[in-house]
Amino acid sequence: MTATDKTSSGAMLSTHGLYKAFGGNVAVHDVSLDLYPDRITALIGPNGAGKTTLFNIITGYERPDSGDITFDGNRVGGMAPWQISRRGVARTFQTPVGFPTMTLWESMQVAGASHAVLTGMLTTRGRRETAKLSRRADEILDHLGLDKLLDTPVDELAAGDRKLAELARQLMSQPRLLLLDEPAAGVNPGAISRLSDLIRDVHRSGIALMIIDHNLSFVLDVADYVHVMANGRIIAEGTPEEIAASPLVRQVYMGVDA
Ligand SMILES: Nc1ncnc2c1ncn2[C@@H]1O[C@H](COP(=O)(O)OP(=O)(O)OP(=O)(O)O)[C@@H](O)[C@H]1O
Ligand SMILES: [Mg+2]
Repeated sequence: MTATDKTSSGAMLSTHGLYKAFGGNVAVHDVSLDLYPDRITALIGPNGAGKTTLFNIITGYERPDSGDITFDGNRVGGMAPWQISRRGVARTFQTPVGFPTMTLWESMQVAGASHAVLTGMLTTRGRRETAKLSRRADEILDHLGLDKLLDTPVDELAAGDRKLAELARQLMSQPRLLLLDEPAAGVNPGAISRLSDLIRDVHRSGIALMIIDHNLSFVLDVADYVHVMANGRIIAEGTPEEIAASPLVRQVYMGVDA
């Protein structure tokens, strides 16, 4: 990361007073947060808190009613998903969406090809680049332990492997920032620590991360910094230790009396 990649505050992504209502239901209420690339950031909060809506706004799937977003110091609020993706922001969805009837290998090739088209790689550099994409797919699948499942249709993968397959597909675009919406949901408890290790590897490889999840022990273990959302607002932020010890968070998020 070079100094020019950063805003003056050092944040890679900043949201400024984001607001989004669906009819009378305010899903995101005045959300301002900074995301720093050198730490794994988490976003937690009860069902309906507005977490996914915030990811949708950041990645262009929803337009904010007001507020703005800066990525690398450039305003990106209101851009289309493909424009934001082209700048290096990738995301997974709470419910996996990618190519269910294709085999895992096919889905990786499609993810690589769409990235190549999006970035003009195919037209300018040709077949050498497509060979590179296949090598990258191999490396990613090996690393995530999915190499034995290449010929399995995506919709026949076990829930945990399907989550990893989503992660694998998003890594094909070599994003600078990856937003993961509930990567641990449906993952076998015995596989969670491996998921944490893989997420740390992804972060160490230079990809900034923000993770939504309801599995608190996973989040507090893997994240370096945590934002807590409730009723559309950020109600607390801090290190995992600070969040775990916060009476407000215990009360609002975990339903435990302060
Ligand atoms: N497209 C939409 N149309 C109408 N209401 C929506 C839409 N998307 C989200 N909402 C509402 O906005 C609020 C925030 O939803 P959101 O999905 O962002 O919450 P969340 O924190 O991701 O919850 P969960 O943990 O259950 O995934 C909820 O009240 C939800 O019903
Ligand atoms: Mg959600």
